[in-house]
Amino acid sequence: MRKSVCALVCAAAALAAPALQAAPEAVSGATVKANLQGGAMPENVDAVTSASVVPETLRQKVVPNGFTRDGNAKRVLFVVGDPRHESVEWDLVNTAAKHFMDKGLEVEIRDLYKIGFNPVLPLESFFHAKDGFGPAPKDVAVEQLIVSAADYIVFCYPNWHDSPNAITKGYMERVFSKQFAYRDTEKGLEGLLKDKGIFVIMNAGWVGMGRGSVGDGIPQKAGEKSNPIWDSYMTAYKTVWDDTAGFWGVKNLGQFVNDRTPGNLDADYAEKLQKLRNDLKASLDRNFHLK
Ligand SMILES: Cc1cc2nc3c(=O)[nH]c(=O)nc-3n(C[C@H](O)[C@H](O)[C@H](O)COP(=O)(O)O)c2cc1C
Repeated sequence: MRKSVCALVCAAAALAAPALQAAPEAVSGATVKANLQGGAMPENVDAVTSASVVPETLRQKVVPNGFTRDGNAKRVLFVVGDPRHESVEWDLVNTAAKHFMDKGLEVEIRDLYKIGFNPVLPLESFFHAKDGFGPAPKDVAVEQLIVSAADYIVFCYPNWHDSPNAITKGYMERVFSKQFAYRDTEKGLEGLLKDKGIFVIMNAGWVGMGRGSVGDGIPQKAGEKSNPIWDSYMTAYKTVWDDTAGFWGVKNLGQFVNDRTPGNLDADYAEKLQKLRNDLKASLDRNFHLK
Protein backbone atom coordinates (compact mmCIF):
# COMPACT_ATOMS: atom_id res chain seq x y z
CA MET A 1 0.00 0.00 0.00
CA ARG A 2 1.25 3.46 -0.88
CA LYS A 3 1.89 5.73 2.06
CA SER A 4 1.26 9.46 1.88
CA VAL A 5 4.19 11.82 2.23
CA CYS A 6 2.70 13.02 5.51
CA ALA A 7 2.52 9.48 6.92
CA LEU A 8 6.13 8.85 5.96
CA VAL A 9 7.31 12.14 7.41
CA CYS A 10 5.37 11.60 10.65
CA ALA A 11 6.81 8.08 10.99
CA ALA A 12 10.32 9.43 10.44
CA ALA A 13 9.71 12.16 13.01
CA ALA A 14 8.57 9.58 15.56
CA LEU A 15 11.76 7.58 15.03
CA ALA A 16 13.87 10.71 15.34
CA ALA A 17 12.12 11.95 18.48
CA PRO A 18 14.63 10.73 21.09
CA ALA A 19 17.48 12.41 19.20
CA LEU A 20 15.51 15.63 18.88
CA GLN A 21 14.93 15.75 22.63
CA ALA A 22 18.62 16.11 23.24
CA ALA A 23 19.00 18.79 20.60
CA PRO A 24 17.92 21.90 22.53
CA GLU A 25 20.66 21.36 25.05
CA ALA A 26 23.20 21.02 22.29
CA VAL A 27 22.38 24.36 20.71
CA SER A 28 21.20 26.48 23.61
CA GLY A 29 24.24 26.88 25.81
CA ALA A 30 22.41 25.26 28.73
CA THR A 31 24.96 23.66 31.01
CA VAL A 32 23.46 20.42 32.27
CA LYS A 33 20.51 18.26 31.39
CA ALA A 34 17.20 19.94 32.14
CA ASN A 35 13.91 18.19 32.68
CA LEU A 36 12.77 18.01 29.10
CA GLN A 37 9.37 16.52 29.94
CA GLY A 38 6.48 18.92 30.35
CA GLY A 39 6.58 22.52 31.48
CA ALA A 40 7.74 22.09 35.07
CA MET A 41 11.00 23.83 35.76
CA PRO A 42 13.80 21.85 37.33
CA GLU A 43 14.77 23.05 40.79
CA ASN A 44 18.18 24.30 39.73
CA VAL A 45 16.73 26.01 36.68
CA ASP A 46 19.15 28.93 36.87
CA ALA A 47 21.97 26.53 36.13
CA VAL A 48 20.41 24.46 33.41
CA THR A 49 18.49 26.72 31.08
CA SER A 50 19.76 29.15 28.50
CA ALA A 51 16.66 31.29 29.14
CA SER A 52 17.04 34.22 31.50
CA VAL A 53 15.90 33.66 35.08
CA VAL A 54 15.83 36.63 37.45
CA PRO A 55 16.55 35.35 40.96
CA GLU A 56 13.46 35.38 43.15
CA THR A 57 14.88 37.95 45.55
CA LEU A 58 15.38 40.45 42.71
CA ARG A 59 12.00 40.01 41.02
CA GLN A 60 9.68 42.99 41.04
CA LYS A 61 5.96 42.87 41.59
CA VAL A 62 4.40 45.85 39.88
CA VAL A 63 0.67 46.53 39.93
CA PRO A 64 -0.50 48.80 37.11
CA ASN A 65 -2.46 51.85 38.26
CA GLY A 66 -4.90 51.45 35.35
CA PHE A 67 -6.50 53.91 32.96
CA THR A 68 -8.93 56.37 34.51
CA ARG A 69 -11.89 57.72 32.54
CA ASP A 70 -10.82 61.33 32.85
CA GLY A 71 -7.70 63.17 33.80
CA ASN A 72 -4.84 64.48 31.76
CA ALA A 73 -2.25 61.82 32.45
CA LYS A 74 -0.91 60.05 29.37
CA ARG A 75 -1.90 56.39 29.18
CA VAL A 76 0.57 53.64 28.43
CA LEU A 77 -0.64 50.23 27.30
CA PHE A 78 1.81 47.35 27.59
CA VAL A 79 1.08 44.43 25.27
CA VAL A 80 3.21 41.61 26.65
CA GLY A 81 3.86 38.28 24.96
CA ASP A 82 6.07 36.30 27.32
CA PRO A 83 4.96 33.18 29.18
CA ARG A 84 7.66 33.35 31.89
CA HIS A 85 7.21 35.96 34.60
CA GLU A 86 10.69 35.27 35.96
CA SER A 87 12.30 36.33 32.68
CA VAL A 88 14.40 39.41 32.05
CA GLU A 89 11.78 40.47 29.50
CA TRP A 90 9.17 40.65 32.28
CA ASP A 91 11.65 42.48 34.47
CA LEU A 92 11.97 45.08 31.71
CA VAL A 93 8.17 45.32 31.50
CA ASN A 94 7.88 45.83 35.25
CA THR A 95 10.73 48.35 35.27
CA ALA A 96 9.15 50.37 32.48
CA ALA A 97 5.63 50.19 33.96
CA LYS A 98 6.85 51.40 37.34
CA HIS A 99 8.92 54.14 35.72
CA PHE A 100 5.93 55.49 33.79
CA MET A 101 3.80 55.43 36.95
CA ASP A 102 6.54 57.19 38.92
CA LYS A 103 6.46 59.89 36.24
CA GLY A 104 2.69 60.34 36.66
CA LEU A 105 1.44 58.32 33.68
CA GLU A 106 -1.32 55.71 33.75
CA VAL A 107 -0.45 52.13 32.92
CA GLU A 108 -2.39 49.08 31.76
CA ILE A 109 -0.75 45.73 31.06
CA ARG A 110 -2.28 43.14 28.76
CA ASP A 111 -0.51 39.91 29.69
CA LEU A 112 -1.41 37.96 26.56
CA TYR A 113 -0.54 34.50 27.92
CA LYS A 114 -2.46 35.17 31.14
CA ILE A 115 -5.61 36.35 29.38
CA GLY A 116 -5.31 33.43 26.95
CA PHE A 117 -5.29 35.68 23.91
CA ASN A 118 -5.83 33.65 20.74
CA PRO A 119 -3.33 34.96 18.20
CA VAL A 120 -4.61 32.99 15.23
CA LEU A 121 -6.55 34.90 12.61
CA PRO A 122 -9.18 32.34 11.60
CA LEU A 123 -11.12 32.19 8.35
CA GLU A 124 -14.31 33.37 10.10
CA SER A 125 -12.82 36.74 10.94
CA PHE A 126 -10.30 37.02 8.11
CA PHE A 127 -12.45 39.52 6.21
CA HIS A 128 -12.95 41.55 9.35
CA ALA A 129 -9.19 41.95 9.73
CA LYS A 130 -8.55 42.39 6.02
CA ASP A 131 -11.46 44.61 5.02
CA GLY A 132 -13.21 45.62 8.24
CA PHE A 133 -16.33 43.64 7.23
CA GLY A 134 -18.74 42.70 10.01
CA PRO A 135 -18.43 43.20 13.74
CA ALA A 136 -15.12 42.67 15.52
CA PRO A 137 -14.88 39.31 17.32
CA LYS A 138 -15.71 39.83 21.02
CA ASP A 139 -12.15 39.39 22.30
CA VAL A 140 -10.83 41.75 19.61
CA ALA A 141 -13.49 44.38 20.45
CA VAL A 142 -12.30 44.38 24.09
CA GLU A 143 -8.69 44.93 23.05
CA GLN A 144 -9.66 47.65 20.58
CA LEU A 145 -11.36 49.58 23.39
CA ILE A 146 -8.18 49.39 25.45
CA VAL A 147 -5.96 50.35 22.51
CA SER A 148 -8.29 53.28 21.74
CA ALA A 149 -7.88 54.58 25.28
CA ALA A 150 -4.06 54.46 25.15
CA ASP A 151 -1.72 57.26 24.12
CA TYR A 152 1.21 54.88 23.90
CA ILE A 153 1.34 51.19 23.07
CA VAL A 154 4.47 49.35 24.14
CA PHE A 155 4.96 45.94 22.55
CA CYS A 156 7.06 43.67 24.77
CA TYR A 157 8.33 40.27 23.71
CA PRO A 158 11.45 38.14 23.74
CA ASN A 159 13.16 37.75 20.39
CA TRP A 160 11.97 34.47 18.99
CA HIS A 161 13.30 34.03 15.46
CA ASP A 162 13.84 37.71 14.84
CA SER A 163 10.28 38.95 14.89
CA PRO A 164 7.52 39.69 17.38
CA ASN A 165 6.71 36.26 18.81
CA ALA A 166 3.53 34.57 17.68
CA ILE A 167 1.18 35.73 20.44
CA THR A 168 2.28 39.35 20.05
CA LYS A 169 2.21 39.22 16.27
CA GLY A 170 -1.27 37.64 16.40
CA TYR A 171 -2.43 40.53 18.58
CA MET A 172 -1.24 42.91 15.87
CA GLU A 173 -2.93 40.90 13.11
CA ARG A 174 -6.29 40.56 14.85
CA VAL A 175 -6.65 43.76 16.89
CA PHE A 176 -5.24 46.31 14.44
CA SER A 177 -7.83 45.50 11.82
CA LYS A 178 -8.94 47.56 8.85
CA GLN A 179 -11.45 50.32 9.64
CA PHE A 180 -10.04 50.32 13.20
CA ALA A 181 -6.34 50.96 12.57
CA TYR A 182 -6.42 52.11 8.95
CA ARG A 183 -8.79 52.60 6.03
CA ASP A 184 -8.80 53.17 2.30
CA THR A 185 -9.23 56.68 1.00
CA GLU A 186 -9.09 58.10 -2.50
CA LYS A 187 -5.52 59.08 -1.77
CA GLY A 188 -4.54 55.63 -0.48
CA LEU A 189 -4.36 54.12 2.97
CA GLU A 190 -4.97 56.35 5.96
CA GLY A 191 -3.80 55.39 9.45
CA LEU A 192 -6.58 55.93 11.98
CA LEU A 193 -4.68 55.80 15.25
CA LYS A 194 -3.24 59.29 15.00
CA ASP A 195 -1.85 60.93 18.15
CA LYS A 196 -0.66 57.58 19.49
CA GLY A 197 2.90 56.35 19.74
CA ILE A 198 4.33 52.85 19.72
CA PHE A 199 7.51 51.53 21.31
CA VAL A 200 9.16 48.10 21.53
CA ILE A 201 10.92 46.43 24.44
CA MET A 202 12.63 43.24 23.29
CA ASN A 203 15.08 41.02 25.10
CA ALA A 204 17.28 38.98 22.77
CA GLY A 205 19.76 36.14 22.83
CA TRP A 206 22.17 37.57 20.29
CA VAL A 207 21.69 40.37 17.79
CA GLY A 208 25.26 41.51 17.42
CA MET A 209 25.95 42.71 20.98
CA GLY A 210 24.40 45.89 22.21
CA ARG A 211 21.63 47.54 24.17
CA GLY A 212 19.22 50.19 22.92
CA SER A 213 18.71 50.83 19.22
CA VAL A 214 20.62 51.81 16.09
CA GLY A 215 24.04 53.17 17.09
CA ASP A 216 24.10 51.48 20.51
CA GLY A 217 26.14 48.39 19.65
CA ILE A 218 29.30 47.46 21.47
CA PRO A 219 32.23 48.43 19.24
CA GLN A 220 34.22 45.43 18.09
CA LYS A 221 37.10 47.36 16.53
CA ALA A 222 39.03 50.47 17.41
CA GLY A 223 37.39 53.55 15.98
CA GLU A 224 33.88 52.04 15.82
CA LYS A 225 31.11 53.94 17.59
CA SER A 226 28.65 51.05 17.42
CA ASN A 227 29.09 47.85 15.48
CA PRO A 228 27.80 47.05 12.01
CA ILE A 229 26.17 43.72 12.84
CA TRP A 230 24.15 45.17 15.71
CA ASP A 231 23.24 48.19 13.60
CA SER A 232 22.05 46.02 10.71
CA TYR A 233 19.70 44.11 13.05
CA MET A 234 18.44 47.30 14.66
CA THR A 235 17.92 49.00 11.31
CA ALA A 236 15.97 45.99 10.04
CA TYR A 237 13.67 45.95 13.08
CA LYS A 238 13.26 49.73 12.93
CA THR A 239 12.35 49.58 9.24
CA VAL A 240 9.59 47.08 9.89
CA TRP A 241 8.18 49.01 12.88
CA ASP A 242 8.37 52.31 10.93
CA ASP A 243 6.31 50.68 8.21
CA THR A 244 3.74 49.33 10.68
CA ALA A 245 3.52 52.72 12.38
CA GLY A 246 2.88 54.35 9.00
CA PHE A 247 0.09 51.87 8.33
CA TRP A 248 -1.67 52.56 11.62
CA GLY A 249 -1.02 56.32 11.59
CA VAL A 250 0.95 56.19 14.84
CA LYS A 251 4.38 57.56 15.60
CA ASN A 252 7.18 55.03 16.02
CA LEU A 253 8.86 56.20 19.22
CA GLY A 254 11.65 53.65 19.00
CA GLN A 255 12.89 50.42 20.49
CA PHE A 256 14.86 49.19 23.46
CA VAL A 257 16.56 45.95 22.52
CA ASN A 258 18.82 44.18 24.97
CA ASP A 259 21.25 41.42 24.14
CA ARG A 260 23.47 41.92 27.15
CA THR A 261 21.45 39.90 29.63
CA PRO A 262 23.31 39.04 32.83
CA GLY A 263 24.27 35.35 32.99
CA ASN A 264 21.96 33.51 35.40
CA LEU A 265 24.90 32.54 37.58
CA ASP A 266 26.92 35.77 37.37
CA ALA A 267 28.34 36.75 40.77
CA ASP A 268 27.52 40.41 40.07
CA TYR A 269 24.04 39.64 38.75
CA ALA A 270 22.28 42.26 40.90
CA GLU A 271 24.54 45.09 39.68
CA LYS A 272 24.20 44.04 36.05
CA LEU A 273 20.42 43.84 36.35
CA GLN A 274 20.30 47.28 37.96
CA LYS A 275 22.41 48.70 35.12
CA LEU A 276 20.01 47.15 32.59
CA ARG A 277 17.01 48.68 34.40
CA ASN A 278 18.73 52.08 34.50
CA ASP A 279 19.56 51.90 30.79
CA LEU A 280 15.92 51.14 30.00
CA LYS A 281 14.69 54.03 32.15
CA ALA A 282 17.12 56.41 30.44
CA SER A 283 15.88 55.21 27.05
CA LEU A 284 12.25 55.82 28.07
CA ASP A 285 13.09 59.29 29.38
CA ARG A 286 14.70 60.12 26.04
CA ASN A 287 12.16 58.59 23.70
CA PHE A 288 9.02 59.64 25.60
CA HIS A 289 10.45 63.00 26.71
CA LEU A 290 9.72 62.17 30.34
CA LYS A 291 10.75 64.70 32.95
C1 LIG B 1 11.84 29.85 20.19
C2 LIG B 1 12.97 30.78 20.46
C3 LIG B 1 13.58 31.43 19.40
C4 LIG B 1 14.61 32.33 19.62
N1 LIG B 1 15.15 33.00 18.58
C5 LIG B 1 16.06 33.98 18.80
C6 LIG B 1 16.55 34.80 17.73
O1 LIG B 1 16.19 34.64 16.58
N2 LIG B 1 17.41 35.78 18.04
C7 LIG B 1 17.81 36.02 19.33
O2 LIG B 1 18.53 36.98 19.57
N3 LIG B 1 17.39 35.25 20.35
C8 LIG B 1 16.52 34.25 20.12
N4 LIG B 1 16.05 33.49 21.16
C9 LIG B 1 16.60 33.69 22.49
C10 LIG B 1 15.79 34.62 23.32
O3 LIG B 1 15.52 35.84 22.70
C11 LIG B 1 16.61 34.83 24.56
O4 LIG B 1 16.52 33.66 25.34
C12 LIG B 1 16.20 36.01 25.33
O5 LIG B 1 17.12 36.17 26.35
C13 LIG B 1 14.83 35.79 25.89
O6 LIG B 1 14.56 36.80 26.74
P1 LIG B 1 13.90 36.49 28.12
O7 LIG B 1 14.87 35.63 28.83
O8 LIG B 1 13.72 37.81 28.72
O9 LIG B 1 12.65 35.75 27.82
C14 LIG B 1 15.03 32.56 20.95
C15 LIG B 1 14.41 31.90 22.03
C16 LIG B 1 13.39 31.04 21.78
C17 LIG B 1 12.72 30.38 22.95
